[in-house]
Amino acid sequence: MIVVGNLKMYMAYNDILKYKDNIPDDVIVCPSSLFVPYFLNHNYQVGVQDVSMYDLGSHTGEISAIQAKQMGVSYTLIGHSERRDKETDEEINKKILKALENNLKVILCIGENKDEDKEDKLKYQLLNDLKGINDLSNIIIAYEPIWCIGTGITPTNAQIEDTINFIQSIIQNNFNECVKVLYGGSVDKNNIDTLKKIDNVAGFLIGKASTDCDHLKEIVDSLR
Ligand code: PGA
Repeated sequence: MIVVGNLKMYMAYNDILKYKDNIPDDVIVCPSSLFVPYFLNHNYQVGVQDVSMYDLGSHTGEISAIQAKQMGVSYTLIGHSERRDKETDEEINKKILKALENNLKVILCIGENKDEDKEDKLKYQLLNDLKGINDLSNIIIAYEPIWCIGTGITPTNAQIEDTINFIQSIIQNNFNECVKVLYGGSVDKNNIDTLKKIDNVAGFLIGKASTDCDHLKEIVDSLR
């Protein structure tokens, strides 16, 4: 099972000093970009939380895929719901293309709001975000219903399983490929034993619960 920790902007410098040496092996950890160098050269993988749709250039405050790759980063989240209000699907598509061009693996986050038609929204995101991409072998999809992020609420296992099947069918019908699909949204040590029973889930994208090493370790241990 794939375990991704999205540290968002939760941790300050003092918090990461101990944290960075106690992350379980095999986890993909996505810290604030500023702290990436502290996370390198451990037995886990490092991702950034976003990349620019541009190469090097006059883009104040942004981080390019080239920069991330050269620093030793291997993954990037793209399209997290906490960023989607600032970017279009066309821009997300350009970011994915840039990441792949620079040999970063992409974790593409998709998900619906409570008041949206789930299938319409997911299909729209998948077809637009992945437009023109012929090889999906370096792409992982993270299904994160927005109403579950940071709320303590999770869908039922049956709902998640159906949604992952739906995502797989869109990918199969339009790209003739199979992708790994993670679930994210309020995953923690209390619900992981239930969530891990979902047949078609390839792993989990974990926000808040991943910011505590012991908590993260309990989740990873449960998945072993
Ligand atoms: P959460 O966040 O686990 O804190 O709900 C998940 C995410 O936003 O990736």
